[in-house]
Amino acid sequence: MNHTILITGGAGFIGSHLTRLFVTKYPDYKIVNLDKLTYAGNLENLKDVENKPNYKFVKGDITDIEFVKKLFEEYKFTGVLHCAAESHVDRSISDPLAFVKTNVLGTVTLLQTAKDFWEDELQGKLFYHISTDEVYGSLGEEGFFTEETSYDPRSPYSASKASSDHFVRAFYHTYKLPVIISNCSNNYGPYHFPEKLIPLCINNILNQKPLPIYGKGENVRDWLFVEDHVKAIDVIFHKGKAGETYNIGGHNEWKNIDIIKELCKQMDEKLGREKGESEKLITFVKDRAGHDMRYAIDATKLKEELGWKPSLQFEEGLSKTIDWYLNNKEWLQHVTTGNYQNYYETQYDKR
Ligand code: NAD
Ligand code: TYD
Repeated sequence: MNHTILITGGAGFIGSHLTRLFVTKYPDYKIVNLDKLTYAGNLENLKDVENKPNYKFVKGDITDIEFVKKLFEEYKFTGVLHCAAESHVDRSISDPLAFVKTNVLGTVTLLQTAKDFWEDELQGKLFYHISTDEVYGSLGEEGFFTEETSYDPRSPYSASKASSDHFVRAFYHTYKLPVIISNCSNNYGPYHFPEKLIPLCINNILNQKPLPIYGKGENVRDWLFVEDHVKAIDVIFHKGKAGETYNIGGHNEWKNIDIIKELCKQMDEKLGREKGESEKLITFVKDRAGHDMRYAIDATKLKEELGWKPSLQFEEGLSKTIDWYLNNKEWLQHVTTGNYQNYYETQYDKR
């Protein structure tokens, strides 16, 4: 069937990959990208698709119910891919309320509007909520998160995402709204904002600045290449079952310190620097408050029921990511100087 899909947060890291995939793979779908363009939203991420006939960008806030209603009236969406969120744990520690507003209130605003617009005909509609493995809490040395793992969020970020997941399920059970949730592990890849560990360290290695490692660098994350994440979302959106949750992950656990050493090694080679030079930049700093020890996803359900598995080995994905940053220094420079925030005015206000 032909869809008219609302992607929220399409100018962010994962949202821009998702938007690109849907706009190019499904020319018969109409894709509307609704983004507030916070510090994390960057329309330069979508330069290659911005003139496609099936793509439209709309600047706006998912917490503004009148605005969201008007958008539903205008476009008559058949699907929602909800990516918009405040996404950085450290920012959630300094400003938890911003996370409640966007992640909880924004999600409920979208759910309420979708419910009101779709209630006469739920057939062929889907509200897809993109969430995180962080809702499950923190693991010790053993075990994995499955779809049955109890929620145990421990940071303001993960608490706000957990709350939004609960509302999505509540709308399924109470109003029969067709919903799907996926909970994914840490993503990495091109267009990743350099406040998160990997792009921050790529940028600092390039500029020979210290690489801040929280605590002892022993914390473990399960890393997935962002293009594999959005391919999984595509499979789940088209083949997944309403009311279900799917975990997405790469079975790819790394201690932070090991990941940074691998990054230093690869970047020394690519930049023609002496072996071991970038590792000297590693600096252990004060630990993050409430720092979750380990995340690891069991994605068996997704593999067995829908046939998805990651396509890239980590070293290869990391190498591709570094190459992208080295070839897109202008993007990095715009992001680190704040210049990307002028892009909307120069590109869209003149239209
Ligand atoms: P991001 O911070 O890069 O992008 C978020 C986007 O949402 C930005 O474009 C921002 O402008 C937009 N936005 C924020 N508040 C908004 C509002 N009120 N109205 C409209 N737009 C708004 O985030 P990301 O890393 O791309 O994450 C996308 C989603 O995936 C989030 O829901 C996040 O919880 C989830 N997730 C992320 C990861 C990861 O590793 N990055 C892993 C699993 C799940
Ligand atoms: P991050 O990329 O912020 O993702 P998340 O907190 O959502 O997992 O952090 C990944 C890991 O790297 C996490 O254990 C915190 C750690 N970290 C550092 O050691 N130094 C840093 O400067 C940052 C941003 C993160």
